[in-house]
Amino acid sequence: MKSWWSIGAIVLLFSFGNSLPDPEKPVPIPASPQRTGDAVKGYQYLVSGDYVKGGLPLGLYKRALGKQQKDFLNRGGLNSGVTHDFTVVEVNGEQLVAPNCLQCHAQVFGDSLVMGMGNTYLDFSANQTMNTKNLAMAGKLLKLTAPAKYEASKNFLRVSMAVGPYLNTAVRGVNAADRLAAALVAHRDPVTFQWSDTLLMPLPDEVIPSDVPAWWLLKKKNAMFYNGFGRGDFGRFLMASNLLTVTDTAESAEVDRQISDVLAYLYTLKAPAYPFPIDKELAEKGALIYNDHCAKCHGNGDAYPNLLVPAAIINTDTALYSANYQNPQFVDWFNRSWFASGDHPAKLVPYQGYIAPPLDGVWCTAPYLHNGSVPTIEGVLNSAVRPAFWTRDFNKPEYDYQRLGWTYYTGDASSVGYYDTNKKGYGNYGHYFGDKLTDTDRKAVIEYLKTL
Ligand code: HEC
Ligand code: HEC
Repeated sequence: MKSWWSIGAIVLLFSFGNSLPDPEKPVPIPASPQRTGDAVKGYQYLVSGDYVKGGLPLGLYKRALGKQQKDFLNRGGLNSGVTHDFTVVEVNGEQLVAPNCLQCHAQVFGDSLVMGMGNTYLDFSANQTMNTKNLAMAGKLLKLTAPAKYEASKNFLRVSMAVGPYLNTAVRGVNAADRLAAALVAHRDPVTFQWSDTLLMPLPDEVIPSDVPAWWLLKKKNAMFYNGFGRGDFGRFLMASNLLTVTDTAESAEVDRQISDVLAYLYTLKAPAYPFPIDKELAEKGALIYNDHCAKCHGNGDAYPNLLVPAAIINTDTALYSANYQNPQFVDWFNRSWFASGDHPAKLVPYQGYIAPPLDGVWCTAPYLHNGSVPTIEGVLNSAVRPAFWTRDFNKPEYDYQRLGWTYYTGDASSVGYYDTNKKGYGNYGHYFGDKLTDTDRKAVIEYLKTL
C-alpha cells in the first residue's frame, strides 16, 4: 500500500512535471503539420524562381564576372552563363540577377556542387562596407547610363545598401543570415511588409555567427534552426529571403503558393555517401558505443527523438539562443507578422539551448557546432584537441578524412583572419560527451559516423 504522502508526491510530480520545463532535461519538440507539394516543381522554383524579385542588371553581372561562368546546375536559357547561386529574374521588363538560396545552401565539395550543403566559403568579414560602397557606385553609374535598368534595380540597391553594413562577421566561413533577417525585419512593417528607410526597432551591435545546417536533415526535424524556434509551417520560414525585395503581401502570397513545392524538394535530399572505404569491423564497434552514448540525443537510423538540449547540459556558446531573450523585438515582430497569420501560420518559440541535430552526412559538414567553431569531428568528440585559433586554406581546401573535417592551421591572438574562439558568439566549448571515450573508442565512433 502506498502512503498518502507518496501519492501526493506523484500527483505533484505530474502537475509540476508537465507544466514547468525542467532546465536539466532535454525537451522533445512536437511535430507541426506541413503542406505537401511537388518536388520537381519545387526544384525548378528554387533554382529559377523569382522569390527574390530584384538584383543587379544581367549585363553588369556579366561584365563584372566575365562572360561565361560555370553553372553547375546547367540551367540554360536565361540563366546560362550565370553561376548556381544567382538567378535571372525580370522586373519591369529588365533582366536582373538575383541572389538565390544556394548562396548559402550549396557548396562545391571536391569537384561537384552539393545541393543543401551549407556554404562555408562565404566571406562576411570586414568587406561589407566596401560592398556597400561598390553598390552605391554601381547605382550612380546606372542612373546616369541606363535609367530604366536603374529603376528596375533601385529597390534591391536600396535594401542591400541599408542592410550591408550590418553583416560583418569576425572571420570568413561563418554566416550572418540571422543578422540579415534581423536587419530586414527591423526595416519592415510586420503586417504589410512595407519598407522604411529608418530602423523601426533597435538592432543590437554584434553579429552572431552561425554555420549553415544541411538541408537533408530537415525531413527528420520537427523544428527549424539551431535553437529549434522555427515552429508551425516551415514554408513560411523558407520564403524569408523574399523579405529582401518584397513590395507588398500580395507578392508574398504568390511566393507562399509555391514554397511548399520547395519544401517537398528539400525533403527528397539525401546526405552524400562517404566516398572512401570504411573499416566495417571498427564501424560496428563504433555503432555500439554510439548507441550507448549518443543515440539518445541524436537518434539512430529513422528513429530521431527531436530533442532540445538545455544550456545546462550542452554548455556550448550561449550567444545565439540568448539573443532571442535579450532582443525579444525580433521574435515579437515575427509572431505578429504576416508569416504568423492565415491558415498555415508559423511561429517562433525561443528556447534556452540547442536542438541535437540528426548526424546524417555529418562527415562532410565541417566545421561543427552551431557557430562552426570546431573544425573536425575529432575535436567535437575530444574538447582537449579543439584549437583556440585556427584557419583553413580557402583557396586550396583540404579535407581531413581521418579526423573528419577541415585540415586546419593553428595560430594565436595575433593571427589575422583566424577563427578566434574567445570572441563573443564564437566559443568552442561545451558538448563534452565524447571526452570520456578512450582514443580507440573515439576512433570507432568516428568510423561509424562515416556510415551515416
Ligand atoms: C545568407 C545566407 C542564407 C540564405 C540566402 C538562405 N539561408 Fe537558409 N539558413 C541560413 C542559415 C545561417 C541558417 C541557420 C540559422 C539558424 O539556425 O540560426 C539557415 C537555415 C535554413 C533552414 C533550416 C534548416 C534546419 O535544419 O534547421 C532551411 C530549411 C533554410 N535555411 C532554407 C532556405 C531557403 C529555402 C532559402 C532561399 C529561399 C534560404 N534558406 C536562404 C542561411 C541562408
Ligand atoms: C545530451 C544530448 C547529446 C548527447 C548525449 C550527444 N550529443 Fe552531440 N550534440 C548535441 C547537441 C544539442 C548538439 C548541437 C550543439 C551546438 O551546436 O551548440 C550536438 C552536436 C553534435 C555534433 C556536431 C553536429 C554539427 O553538424 O555541427 C556532432 C558531430 C555530435 N554532436 C556527435 C555526438 C556524438 C558522436 C555523441 C556521442 C559520443 C554525442 N554527440 C552525444 C547533443 C548531444
